Parts: sequence; structure tokens; C-alpha cells
Amino acid sequence: MNHRLAVLISGSGTNLQAILDAIHDGDLDAEVAVVLSNRADAGGLARAAEAGIPTVTLNHKSFESREAFDQAMIDRLAPYQPDTVVLAGFMRILSPLFVRHYAGRLINIHPSLLPKYRGLNTHARALEAGDSEHGCSIHFVTEELDGGPLIAQARVSIGENDSPESLSKKVQLREHQLYPLVLQWRARQRLALTDEGVTLDGKPLAEQGYQLP
Ligand code: GAR
Repeated sequence: MNHRLAVLISGSGTNLQAILDAIHDGDLDAEVAVVLSNRADAGGLARAAEAGIPTVTLNHKSFESREAFDQAMIDRLAPYQPDTVVLAGFMRILSPLFVRHYAGRLINIHPSLLPKYRGLNTHARALEAGDSEHGCSIHFVTEELDGGPLIAQARVSIGENDSPESLSKKVQLREHQLYPLVLQWRARQRLALTDEGVTLDGKPLAEQGYQLP
């Protein structure tokens, strides 16, 4: 049976699109079973609809607590039986309730070379620090914000004329290469979170994860 993905978004969904394109091109043996957004105006919802994928919109502001919202997400995702829950620009902090429910099956992409620059405004912070390189990281999600075990990273070099916007574009191109690759490892059951850390083909990965050439 196909590996079933639930993709969670809050924005334009270019990573979702890269995943859909990889499936279409035969590079990713998975199925996007559902796309969930916490914002009704997320551009990624139109991409999902275009691809004929069921969508769920849940406004976090309609819930009285983070836990109530997260429980509603769990309830709405359950019928789709996701093997992996993919955070693709989902801009909500998840409660331990949600993280524990999907432990070992919950993956996030973050626009920095973690452990550098957890949180927001990562491109501006890398520029401000005078870094010569920047990039993106994919990690298993744990209860520590942007702190879970690393699976893979892709780097970009920072040029003299880079702005947060130009850097964001460069990093996103790398994200679109990296997410389908990592998800194909999941689909092929090559990637797991174990007591020994992240393993690929049963072997522990280096602390910073696989480095995309
Ligand atoms: C991506 O660059 C992703 O790394 C970032 O949001 C963007 C979503 O773009 N995620 C975070 O900042 C999570 N903290 P997209 O909607 O076009 O895929």
C-alpha cells in the first residue's frame, strides 16, 4: 500500500507543490491523503484542490486552547490514517499532546541550518550574523521547538548582495529538492527515529543529518 502523507500548511504551499510534483514524476512513492491548513487563505489549499486532494481547514482562533485545537487536528486527520505527518510551512507551535500522538511519524522543515536560528526570521538573522552560508533542515519533531533530531540539511552560500528575500528564494529551492528525497526514504521505510537516534537503512545518521550535495 502507498505511504500516506498528511501535509500541514499555513501559507503558499510551495513545499507541498514540490511533494505533489515528485509524486507525479514518479520520484516519490507516496500519496498525499489530506492537506490541513490553520488558515482559510493559505495558497496551498488551492494547490491541493487542483490536485484533487481532500482539504481540512481548522481556524486555531476558534479553539479555546492549543490542546483543543491540536486534538481537533488529530480527530480530523485520523480518518486519513497518515503514515507520516509532514509540516510544510505550518506556523503553529504544537502541543505535547499532538507531538506524542505522532511520535516518530512527524517531520518538519525549517529554513535554517539547525541548531542555528530556531524560530522566526531566520534569513535576516543569518545575514545579520554575517554568516557565509545558510540553508534548511528537516527533522523529526519532538516537544522542543525546532529542536528534534536532524534528518537532512541543504546549504546555500550567502552572497554580498543577498537580502532576506533573495536568501529565502535560494533556500526554498533547496527545500524543494530536500523534502521529496527525505519523504521517499520514509515511503521506502528506510528512515526511522529510534532509541539510537535517526537511522537510515538501519544505520545512525550523523548529528547534523544527511548533507545534500
Ligand atoms: C518554508 O520556507 C519553510 O521552511 C518555512 O515556511 C516556508 C513555507 O513555504 N517553515 C518555517 O518557518 C517553520 N518554522 P511554503 O508554504 O511555500 O512551503
